[in-house]
Amino acid sequence: MKGFTATLAATASLLFSGIASSKVTDPVTVKGNAFFVGNNRFYIRGVDYQPGGSSNLADPLSNITVCQRDISHMKDLGLNTIRVYTSDNSADHDECMDLLSEAGIYLILDVNTPKFSISRDFPVASYNEVYLQHVFATIDVFSKYTNTLGFFAANEVINAANSTRAATVVKALIRDMRKYIGKHVNRPIPVGYSAADVAENRREMAYYLNCGSDDTRSDFFAFNDYSWCGPSSFVQSGWDKKVENYTGYSIPLFLSEFGCNLVRPRIFNEIKALYSTQMTGVFSGGLVYEFTQEPNNYGLVQIDGDNLTTLPDFDNLKKQYSSTNNPPGDGGYQNNLPASNCPEKSSLWEATNTLPDLPSAASVYMNNGAGTPKGTNGASSQFVPQNHKDYSLPGESGAPAPSSSASADKNKKGVAASGMAGLAAGGLWMGVTVGLGTIAGAMLLF
Ligand SMILES: *[C@@H]1O[C@H](CO)[C@@H](O)[C@H](O)[C@H]1NC(C)=O
Ligand SMILES: *[C@@H]1O[C@H](CO)[C@@H](O)[C@H](O)[C@H]1NC(C)=O
Ligand SMILES: *[C@@H]1O[C@H](CO)[C@@H](O)[C@H](O)[C@H]1NC(C)=O
Ligand SMILES: *[C@@H]1O[C@H](CO)[C@@H](O)[C@H](O)[C@H]1NC(C)=O
Repeated sequence: MKGFTATLAATASLLFSGIASSKVTDPVTVKGNAFFVGNNRFYIRGVDYQPGGSSNLADPLSNITVCQRDISHMKDLGLNTIRVYTSDNSADHDECMDLLSEAGIYLILDVNTPKFSISRDFPVASYNEVYLQHVFATIDVFSKYTNTLGFFAANEVINAANSTRAATVVKALIRDMRKYIGKHVNRPIPVGYSAADVAENRREMAYYLNCGSDDTRSDFFAFNDYSWCGPSSFVQSGWDKKVENYTGYSIPLFLSEFGCNLVRPRIFNEIKALYSTQMTGVFSGGLVYEFTQEPNNYGLVQIDGDNLTTLPDFDNLKKQYSSTNNPPGDGGYQNNLPASNCPEKSSLWEATNTLPDLPSAASVYMNNGAGTPKGTNGASSQFVPQNHKDYSLPGESGAPAPSSSASADKNKKGVAASGMAGLAAGGLWMGVTVGLGTIAGAMLLF
């Protein structure tokens, strides 16, 4: 009803003032463990969106042909949110963001690109002024749109039992992004993280990003989850245990990727559970992986040049959305829950609770703004030569530096470990082994 009124008002202003846009997306805010628009609870009904996927990594929000082709179908599907994994901060996004807004659709944007991201293996080295300029400039570009719901500081940087050390830099980055938004943006755009579903450390990661002083805590947390496959159920999928485990978690939580495709076509009966009071006291919806059909077969629509064809999964998901209302009232959200306890450092959890300071060479961007966005090209920020030679986290000593062979690998396609880590942090992991809690997907960015 609210949307209808807003559309009418906006249409009137369009008719009488000639302003060519009718925004129906008031900003999303965080209250307690939930999202809100005004006084109404907001549940993410979203998809992950990166047409061309990995092999043809292109900014989908700067090509109006692509936006016109896709956004009407997103609206038809019943979406209110899309997640985009990579964008070009030097491109113009006004038209596409307006089209999304007119369709009532918000954006959650990953700030990383293949060239600019945190290195899983050398996190401290990759946390440098070139990288931070990129991140802050991306915030500048997208913060002017009311339908920017939030930013993912990073995606699946911790992807195994042995990469937890890098979480320290993810948390430092979240702190910096929130501080930058506080200084340079007129509203508190939420910042969070999209986690891989790694059984060994998924709870630690969630707690870690929501512990300690308020200025270092994340605004929300999300994880990728492929445990509901085929005609499963709340209990059979283990989602009941996830609700149990995250009960009392004090910030908004949602699924940043879901939609196991081991049984196809997908019937998406998990939608009924996700937007029911079984889950809404703890979760705020999620993002179905993914809008366009790519080689890994998770698509809802098939793209051929300018043509879009809906697939059976599209119709099935649309049917589920349209027959699933949000719970009445506030859906059981909770305010004033306590922050999490910081996980103790151990051989299984190597992140430190003291964060590295913002690199001094980046303070000019923090204080004065990021300046001109540099786009997606150029040398990877992971290999920027550093003045300081200490790649240790606070309290550590003797952390390894990126070796010259690692930097020599930077232009090599394929399997260079350092390149993989960087791309994974900014990119797309696809395909997941279900039930083992391990990501086994092929990364298709190359
Ligand atoms: C926009 O996308 C269309 C469809 O994929 C493509 O043909 C066209 O070249 C793109 N335009 C630009 C400027 O990249
Ligand atoms: C983690 O283990 C994998 C596989 O054994 C290895 O390739 C990778 O380099 C390790 N990463 C770190 C940060 O130790
Ligand atoms: C729930 O928490 C327990 C205790 O930490 C853990 O062993 C279990 O794997 C968790 N289950 C899920 C589904 O996250
Ligand atoms: C797109 O659809 C039009 C009309 O059906 C058809 O003529 C054209 O060949 C299609 N293009 C592609 C690339 O499939």
